[in-house]
Amino acid sequence: MPKDQGVQATHVGESVVDMKFAAIADLDSAESDDQLESWRVRFLGRKGRLTSLLRGLGSLDIDERKVIGAEANKLRGELESLYEERTSKLKSTRAPVGSIDITLPGRKPALGGLHPSTQMIREITQAFNEMGFQTIEGPEVELEKYNFDMLNIPANHPARDQWDTIWVDSDTHNDVLLRTHTSPMQARTMEQNDPPIRVIVPGKCYRYESTDATHEWHFNQVEGLAVDDGITFADLKGTLYEFARRIFGPQRKVRFRCDFFPFVEPGVDMSIDWNGSWIEILGAGMVHPKVLENAGYDSTKYTGFAFGMGPERISMLRNEITDIRHFFSNDLRFLTQF
Ligand code: PHE
Repeated sequence: MPKDQGVQATHVGESVVDMKFAAIADLDSAESDDQLESWRVRFLGRKGRLTSLLRGLGSLDIDERKVIGAEANKLRGELESLYEERTSKLKSTRAPVGSIDITLPGRKPALGGLHPSTQMIREITQAFNEMGFQTIEGPEVELEKYNFDMLNIPANHPARDQWDTIWVDSDTHNDVLLRTHTSPMQARTMEQNDPPIRVIVPGKCYRYESTDATHEWHFNQVEGLAVDDGITFADLKGTLYEFARRIFGPQRKVRFRCDFFPFVEPGVDMSIDWNGSWIEILGAGMVHPKVLENAGYDSTKYTGFAFGMGPERISMLRNEITDIRHFFSNDLRFLTQF
């Protein structure tokens, strides 16, 4: 009997040859694990097409059953090895899980950076840390008592006009405000600690002020305080000279002039020589005896000096920034330059 005749078995379902063509075409188009598995179930599975063909053999007469049975079993063997082949071919062309295509150009991760104010604050505090000052922080929402009263700035005193204040409750002007400077931490530190004291206090301050290129309504300050038995104005000068050299370079010239702040006596401001002109960078002075006494210190035994500066101002000088408002406008074109 010619071979092709023997595989005609319409009464047991489809012919072995038809199934073979369908199976091979389907297998060739299987591209994924899921497609391969669904192919296996459809053709070789327990309820698959080949299995049901083999099951139907029983209804054939003995001669047909022999021929078609042999063909169908041969096909099973063929399909199983084609299936293996296809599976390993797909595996070998696929990149292993977790691998990377090293021919692709890399994607640059977007890195953040420290804000220029933070960078300046860290540089300033580090300079003082190396001179023995400890960095501490204090509250931005402050009591009138610490922001003004304990610093020898009584209510209704004209000196308060120097610090235009944002009150937390603007109707009642009760005693809660946004600190106008970091100096309240002088009072808080002395109230809670005995001498010797050497602290450096960075932090945010707020003023009820209109803004322009050199004024912001919020900004940072760095406060310094040293109190001990026998501290003199020479200590103040030596410390601030050293600070200026560390931040602006060893050749930097500085100048002190008299200035007034209610919580120091005498009070000064310090300027640095900047391309031939004097630029004021901080206020300072010897802690006023009243401020020492307000904190419970014996002003005949202890003396100290204090200073305060604006890190944004210093950063503006060093980096030739012409407008202080850049610091807080969140513009990446500015921020990414640091
Ligand atoms: N707190 C003052 C200001 O904001 C600066 C200062 C601090 C002056 C300490 C003297 C001593 O202007």
